[in-house]
Amino acid sequence: MTIERTFSIVKPDAVKRNLIGAIYNRIEKAGLRVVAAKMIHMDADKAKGFYAEHEGKPFFEDLVAFMTSGPVMVQVLEGENAVVRYRELMGKTNPEEAACGTLRADYALSLRHNSVHGADSPVSAAREIAYFFADDEICPRD
Ligand code: TYD
Ligand code: MG
Repeated sequence: MTIERTFSIVKPDAVKRNLIGAIYNRIEKAGLRVVAAKMIHMDADKAKGFYAEHEGKPFFEDLVAFMTSGPVMVQVLEGENAVVRYRELMGKTNPEEAACGTLRADYALSLRHNSVHGADSPVSAAREIAYFFADDEICPRD
């Protein structure tokens, strides 16, 4: 099995409610390792570039407003099949559809204020990691 990296965000609604530690705890309990992390407050250009795939969709402007409404934690996670395993840990986009015990079922407030982001494929993960981190900010672990 190959070790894979994925990209994750603890979104403004979760940072505001002091849930960083709770979410990191769940990530680590799931066997994923945090290999890079920082707190940032994105401006609109940064958020629009990050969510470029959704530009033009009806929810795009509200999504950008939300993601720039406060600080977020961005992190790189490492582990076997990290992309899929972290998506499973997060649960479905809409918390009303997210399985019991997932991060979004437990913490999300609504479809928009859904507490966490996770890359949806290895290709997305590579783009998103490079969008926020320089190579020398990532510390692979044994
Ligand atoms: P998307 O990439 O479809 O979901 P995910 O975060 O699970 O990969 O959408 C990005 C974010 O946009 C999503 O986390 C919440 C927000 N969003 C809305 O506000 N309304 C919507 O109808 C959708 C589909 C997403
Ligand atoms: Mg997505």
